[in-house]
Amino acid sequence: MNDLKKIVIPIAGLGTRMLPATKAIPKEMLPIVNKPIIQYIVEEVLEAGFKEIIFVTHSSKSSVENHFDTSFELEAALEKRVKRALLKEIKSISKLNLVIHTIRQGEAKGLGHAILCAKSLVGKEPFGIALPDMVIKSSNKNNLTLMKTAFKKNGCSSILLGKAKKEQISKYGIVKLKKNNLVSKELKIESILEKPSLKKAPSNLFAVGRYIFRNEFMEYLSEIKPDKGGEIQLTEAIDMYLKNDNELLAFRLDGKFYDCGDKLGYLIANIEYAKEDPYLKKEILKYLKNKK
Ligand code: G1P
Repeated sequence: MNDLKKIVIPIAGLGTRMLPATKAIPKEMLPIVNKPIIQYIVEEVLEAGFKEIIFVTHSSKSSVENHFDTSFELEAALEKRVKRALLKEIKSISKLNLVIHTIRQGEAKGLGHAILCAKSLVGKEPFGIALPDMVIKSSNKNNLTLMKTAFKKNGCSSILLGKAKKEQISKYGIVKLKKNNLVSKELKIESILEKPSLKKAPSNLFAVGRYIFRNEFMEYLSEIKPDKGGEIQLTEAIDMYLKNDNELLAFRLDGKFYDCGDKLGYLIANIEYAKEDPYLKKEILKYLKNKK
């Protein structure tokens, strides 16, 4: 069954890299220009044709759920003040053509554990994963759309890869690609290593935080034991999946990524999106030019 409807978005993380901003506000609700980070992610998965989002969440994250729910008071106030354009925009956020499920991750036991929390909601279906720290601006086609289309044809799990600079290698999951054979042009993953040192990194290609998995992947994830820090690592389950001869296709990121779980990435995302905002574009470009 290659019909891919569900995508898991883990949002239970505490956002310590963005403290103190995230002391009382979920990191996913920090704005890039005028939309919270999570809205960019939801728009991306919606555009790719996913129909059900599973938020793996935490008690401090109710504002994320509220953001995608109807706000009666706000809508009534905007109606009264005849703010039509704004009203339309606000209404559209809660009327997205998708179902949102939420499930709690009761313990901070890592990314792999967060995904496992969604197991019962995923059921027997294949599923996607989108990590909300990473905002992706594609230059042509939505990357998840490409991965989803391929899945429909070949039913293979896949992972999106970006190119890491030297100083970024130890922050991400780094992959080793299989040697390409002459018959197939598809890139396949041989192994993956979580946050290696530059010396141990098998390449400069890293997991950008978009994955598609056949349902069996959940069984591998269930087998993973917590690491020294008590976390169940998604990367370890992926590596085990590969060691058991399951195929994982590699997609190269088309466009740019902004790691918004990090102060610098978050600031750059704001500048880049502001440069494209119809109301801010002119002024921000002028400001940046004069700063040089
Ligand atoms: C997680 C994954 C890592 C991936 C990264 C992308 O790390 O474990 O493999 O490259 O997301 O953002 P985290 O950012 O949770 O430390």
